[in-house]
Amino acid sequence: MKGVILAGGLGTRLYPLTKVTNKHLLPIFDKPMIFYPINTLVRAGIDEIMVVTGGPHCGDFLGVLKNGNELKIKHLEYAYQENEGGIADALRLAEDFADNGNIAVILGDNTTDFDISSDVANFKEGAMVFLKEVPDPERFGIPVFDKESSEKILEILEKPKDPQNNFAVTGLYIYDNKVFDFIRENKPSERGEMEITDVNNHYARSGNLGYRTIDGFWRDAGTFETLLEANIFWSKKKG
Ligand code: DAU
Repeated sequence: MKGVILAGGLGTRLYPLTKVTNKHLLPIFDKPMIFYPINTLVRAGIDEIMVVTGGPHCGDFLGVLKNGNELKIKHLEYAYQENEGGIADALRLAEDFADNGNIAVILGDNTTDFDISSDVANFKEGAMVFLKEVPDPERFGIPVFDKESSEKILEILEKPKDPQNNFAVTGLYIYDNKVFDFIRENKPSERGEMEITDVNNHYARSGNLGYRTIDGFWRDAGTFETLLEANIFWSKKKG
């Protein structure tokens, strides 16, 4: 399976830090942020990776990642996202790279010590999301479970004001190649973005959305508070 890391956007929630470089190159303890999602993919045996980025500091990635060999990436590609049209808009750019195969996708600001190797190895078709209980579910996509079988996600609600549970849909996804057809059918949301949640809901509606709960640490590092939490976790994990 190939892997895609989405590292576009302007990172405005981290201004003024992101005036200097791309959010995903900011430090989390002793490494640039993007090393963590790369390691999650490489640990799962994925060594062909595309980084989708954009914005004023996109060139900084080349200097840090180079051809990826130091991070055990065999083949590294980059794509440039014009404007910041949303996560699904960024993923759209990986269609040729995916070459009709399945893909593992991680948002570039997500860090986890969870091992997705078995999910990658056993994945056949449809889509898979990873859930994590969080104290602040209103910041995330939240699953609506089937009342009769909590095994099944009926729908995902993007940042609901009044979340019905504490499970965040994290920024780790596995997709079959239909994902690109679903992205084409998408329309921008009220906030003007092509939402990954709408793509996931295509799969949910057709009964092809599986999930697994993350056992271990997971945090996005997109706000000052969560960036600090991620730094503290990884500094202790090191020591
Ligand atoms: O972290 C998990 C959450 O990520 C999910 O629970 C939500 O369902 C999902 O929509 C997303 O929410 P955020 O509001 O946290 O997404 P954000 O706009 O912060 O973007 C997260 C990453 O996606 C960012 O670090 C880089 C990538 N991205 C984002 C945008 C808007 C792109 O590559 N291009 C973009 O245009």
